Amino acid sequence: MTVRLTIRKAGLADVKAVWEIERLSFPAPWSRWAFVTELGNPLSHFLIAGPQTPDSREVWGYIIFWVAAQEMHILNLAVHPRRRRRGVARFLLTEALRQAREAGAGVAWLEVRPSNTAARTLYESFGFMEVGARSKYYQDNQEDALVLFLELDHHDG
Ligand SMILES: CC(C)(COP(=O)(O)OP(=O)(O)OC[C@H]1O[C@@H](n2cnc3c(N)ncnc32)[C@H](O)[C@@H]1OP(=O)(O)O)[C@@H](O)C(=O)NCCC(=O)NCCS
Repeated sequence: MTVRLTIRKAGLADVKAVWEIERLSFPAPWSRWAFVTELGNPLSHFLIAGPQTPDSREVWGYIIFWVAAQEMHILNLAVHPRRRRRGVARFLLTEALRQAREAGAGVAWLEVRPSNTAARTLYESFGFMEVGARSKYYQDNQEDALVLFLELDHHDG
């Protein structure tokens, strides 16, 4: 079944659901407090995707990115395991890139685990390119991070 999706800014009331998804999604999840902190960070954009039904506050996925010095840095993106492979991440990333362009970003950066095939395939499909690596970036298993980069096209946004 295809459900229409909607995007909104995150608020304090979303943190519980976001944190649940975070813990289901990452071997070294952010703390609950880290999400609260992002809500108060003026550089931070914190978006929620959910089903487009009247009055729904359901959280299916989220993205957090910063825009500073004309650069977008994607810090976090996750979709609830039960809601994956329905285009939720693609929807969030599309809107995040649009908002970052609007906020003046010309390039986007992110780090991803080499073992994270789902995320790497998603980012590649948006044109992100591998431009480097950070050695032993992930503290839980000492895995390196791949650094991905995308030039944002100001003409199509
Ligand atoms: C990565 C993640 C956010 C993708 O979310 P999603 O909503 O399932 O992704 P989408 O349905 O929008 O998929 C978009 C595209 O990404 C790629 N993709 C997504 N999941 C994939 C998988 N498991 N294997 C291969 N490609 C995948 C596909 O190209 C897909 O397009 P398609 O479904 O038309 O083939 C999700 O798997 C997740 O939350 N993972 C755990 C957290 C994480 O790793 N976040 C990224 C940190 S850098």
